[in-house]
Amino acid sequence: MTATDVERRTFLSATAGSAAIATLTAHAAQAQPSGPPVAPRSTPMSYAMKPLPFDPQKIKGLSEKILVSHYENNYGGAVKRLNSIIDQLATLDYDKAPGFLINGLKREELIATNSMILHEFYFAGLGEQNAPGAGLADAIARDFGSMDRWRSEFVAMGKAQGGGSGWVILTYSPRDKRLLNSWAADHTTTLAGGEPVLVLDMYEHAYQMDFGARAADYVATIMSALNWSNADRLYAQYSRS
Ligand SMILES: [Fe+2]
Repeated sequence: MTATDVERRTFLSATAGSAAIATLTAHAAQAQPSGPPVAPRSTPMSYAMKPLPFDPQKIKGLSEKILVSHYENNYGGAVKRLNSIIDQLATLDYDKAPGFLINGLKREELIATNSMILHEFYFAGLGEQNAPGAGLADAIARDFGSMDRWRSEFVAMGKAQGGGSGWVILTYSPRDKRLLNSWAADHTTTLAGGEPVLVLDMYEHAYQMDFGARAADYVATIMSALNWSNADRLYAQYSRS
C-alpha cells in the first residue's frame, strides 16, 4: 500500500460526506435572499490524525489489513470529514442559513468528532494483552461486583450489537464518581459528561474483513488483545478530578 493509495482512499471517503454537504449548501443558497456577506470565522480549527499506537502486525487475532484499513479509511476518513465540515461551518451565515442546513452540518460535525475521538480510544486499548492496574481493577470490582462480572457485561453488550453499528464504552461518570458500561450508536448517543476509559468498536468495518458475520469471535479476539495501560492512566486522571 502506497501513501498515494492511502491518500486517495481517505480523500474518497472524505469527499463522500462533503458531496452531501455541498448539496445541502447549494439548496440553501437557492433558498436564501441575497444580503451582505458575513465575515467567516477567522481561524477554523483543523485536526490531524494521531499515529496508530501499536504495530498492526502484532495484534493477536486481527490482521494487519483490517487494522490499517480501519485506521486509514474509517478513523482517517472521520478526521478529514470533520475538517471539511469545520471549513464549511466557518463560512456559514447563521443568521440566514435554513434550519435543515444548520441541523445537517452540526449533526455531521458531532458524528465525525465523536468518531474521531472514539476510534482513538479504541486503538489506544489494543496491544499486548495485560490486566488493569490496581486502581482501575479496584474500581471495576467496586462498581461491577467483580472483573468477571464487568467482562461478562461488556462482552454481552458487544455481541448484542453484532450486525448493527455502535460502540460499547467503559465510561467513568464524574457526576456519580463511578464506572459503567455505556451503549452508543451513530457515534453520538453516549453518556452525557461521561469519560471513556476503554472502547469496543462494533461497526462492521471493525471485523467484517477478518470475521465476516462472526461478531462474537471478533469480540472474543478483542478481549484477548486488551492492553489496559491507557485505561489505567485515564481512570487515574478522571478519578483525581
Ligand atoms: Fe471503527
